[in-house]
Amino acid sequence: MLPFYGLSMGRIEIEKNPLLVRAMFGRIALRYDRLNRMMTLGQDLRWRKEVVQRAAIPSSGRVLDLGTGTGDLALEVVRYTPAVQVVAADFALPMMQVGRRGKPAIIRWCAADALSLPFPSESFDAVVSGFLLRNVADLERSLSEQYRVLRTGGKWVSLDTTPPRPNLLLPFIMFHLNFVIPALGRWIAGDGAAYHYLPQTTQSFLSAEELAELLRKVGFCQVGFCRRMFGTVAIHWGRKG
Ligand SMILES: C[S@@+](CC[C@H](N)C(=O)[O-])C[C@H]1O[C@@H](n2cnc3c(N)ncnc32)[C@H](O)[C@@H]1O
Repeated sequence: MLPFYGLSMGRIEIEKNPLLVRAMFGRIALRYDRLNRMMTLGQDLRWRKEVVQRAAIPSSGRVLDLGTGTGDLALEVVRYTPAVQVVAADFALPMMQVGRRGKPAIIRWCAADALSLPFPSESFDAVVSGFLLRNVADLERSLSEQYRVLRTGGKWVSLDTTPPRPNLLLPFIMFHLNFVIPALGRWIAGDGAAYHYLPQTTQSFLSAEELAELLRKVGFCQVGFCRRMFGTVAIHWGRKG
């Protein structure tokens, strides 16, 4: 378990120290993509496609992929809308350095903190993210920043893990989350702690309904979500103005 977890009764509380989160993603950058494919049995590629389709990006629009990591979502944006301008932003430079290799030159890579974005207000036609939100230290602040940089009428779409609801498969899901994923992380990435962090942050994150409520509070309208992968992953969306 990582040293910055603070556990309490009921929902697990995790104090997310941005320096430690950034360092952790820096450590696993080289193996990150391979582990993603293994943990999701390749389904993450399908979910990213769905995110991009739901983002309704204008053909020559400007898109922000926040928490881009190795840029898989930014790449999907370019495949779907080749004339688009994509800014791929993250605060872990090693993730972007690994991701840049072999990616189209049209993607602009940018160091940025999701809590204080270095972009003018209303500067993107769409803001998308994959597996970012449960990592940020102050979710409401990050969502407000994403809302600020989105143009009025623009679409916001996010993909992330979500706490599974009680169901018959729950014991198997919990086993996969708490044992299989950390074991894969240990064997493939040589970093079991980083892959304990994934189930811990998933179980401590807002439910899909709570996240939708927070999106409305921040100002988004037409908010909705759908669940994938036996209810362990959710895609949320909303529109500004
Ligand atoms: C789980 S990875 C997701 C990468 C990629 N979006 C994907 O779909 O696979 C989470 C990424 O969010 C980034 N991240 C976490 N907190 C951040 C913050 N406050 N500002 C910018 N990036 C952040 C991490 O550095 C990491 O690259």
